[in-house]
Amino acid sequence: MTESSEEPIAYGHEDATHRALGGVEGIRRLVELFYEEMDTLPEAKRIRDLHPSNLEMSIDKLACFLSGWTGGPKLYSEKYGSIKIPIFHQHLPVEEAERDAWMLCMEGALARMDYASELQSYMMRELYVPADRIRVVVANHRAGRVEGKNAGAIQIKAR
Ligand code: HEM
Repeated sequence: MTESSEEPIAYGHEDATHRALGGVEGIRRLVELFYEEMDTLPEAKRIRDLHPSNLEMSIDKLACFLSGWTGGPKLYSEKYGSIKIPIFHQHLPVEEAERDAWMLCMEGALARMDYASELQSYMMRELYVPADRIRVVVANHRAGRVEGKNAGAIQIKAR
């Protein structure tokens, strides 16, 4: 089949994204590159410094998380338990610059993989959602606002 006659991949449907990323192996490689970018980009120095000097555990945790998040095996919960991404990060200094630095590392890593440009932009769009959510939850946390029980996933308790 030629490229043009193929149906567009329905990213986000079942495990389509996971498969397009190359499964667990591909995601692990992506995350290794992500942390390589973080280790080298001057814009990412501040967020790099928030991580431990040895990134092995950070790589494993993010790779496990992204496996389940993209519709594949839920490796993070199997290995490390449950996590609410925004709440987990709420004590960290994450503002626009840190969110953008994180996204920049991901953009660089995606570009270094052999992925279709549609997959790269899909991942950037989708990952922006939790990345920006972290920024909002951090700001609320700093302002002393308490998150509702669903805050990790969706919204903030109105006060
Ligand atoms: C918005 C910018 C972000 C910053 C600055 C940031 C920073 C960090 C830092 C400093 C850690 C702790 C590393 C350690 O002590 O081991 C961490 C852990 C983690 N982050 Fe982020 N992060 C961001 C966005 C995200 C996003 C968007 C996701 C998921 C889509 C994510 C998933 C994780 C996971 C799964 C862990 C490991 C949790 C654990 O220790 O069990 N992060 N992040």
